[in-house]
Amino acid sequence: MIEYEGKAKQIIPTAEPDVAIQRFKDSATAFNGQKKAELEGKGEINAAMSAAAFLKLESAGISTHFMGLENARDMRIKRLKIVPLEVVVRNVVAGSLSKRLGLEEGVTLKFPIVETYFKRDDLGDPLVCDSHVFVLGICSEETLAELKTRALQVNSVLGPWFNEAGLTLVDFKLEFGFDESGELLLGDEVSPDTCRIWETESGRRLDKDVFRRDLGDPMVGYREVVDRLGITIGGEHA
Ligand code: C5P
Repeated sequence: MIEYEGKAKQIIPTAEPDVAIQRFKDSATAFNGQKKAELEGKGEINAAMSAAAFLKLESAGISTHFMGLENARDMRIKRLKIVPLEVVVRNVVAGSLSKRLGLEEGVTLKFPIVETYFKRDDLGDPLVCDSHVFVLGICSEETLAELKTRALQVNSVLGPWFNEAGLTLVDFKLEFGFDESGELLLGDEVSPDTCRIWETESGRRLDKDVFRRDLGDPMVGYREVVDRLGITIGGEHA
């Protein structure tokens, strides 16, 4: 039984009420679902990469919803009440930051920046400032501050991990939620679907932008990312 069907993942209940299966699909979408494709192998790569990233983060003291891999595309997760914000961290100018502010893609930012977007497909996930978050009643001031702190902590763990593999973590999106005991945990996924990853030396794009911008076979880059990070498909490697 599928409880929730998203664009790239499904949520499947288990016998335990606080535990679910997050299944990574091969489906890819961009531009709020206007562009669609099936990319063979994407689900397994994203599951393996997310598992490895969550283990890496957990070992650095950052709590996540990750409980283990059931098989190559199914992840056991703690159920969360998701805070309806996409928390984006940026190290290098790309994507919507470049468009919105007229900055050149590829320029390294003086310091990592954190942005928040309201998760509302019908509004196209708008960028929201802190006052918007409070006016909308999305979360408390304390939670918002905590989300930003944690997002920067994630950046400081993932950034060096990527750098050592010859990769640059340009930007990424995170989602957080509260578990049944009220603890704030990192949820969702960490994969080339949700991160911009460039090969450091050449600047080659190894992420979903290849699909968004029709730059070739997206799976070539996705595979290169897991290979460089030493991640085995179907395994869990910190
Ligand atoms: O499009 P934009 O430049 O704002 O994206 C910033 C980062 O957030 C990118 O790594 C992109 O892949 C990710 N993102 C995402 N899901 C969205 C919007 C952005 O994973 N709905």
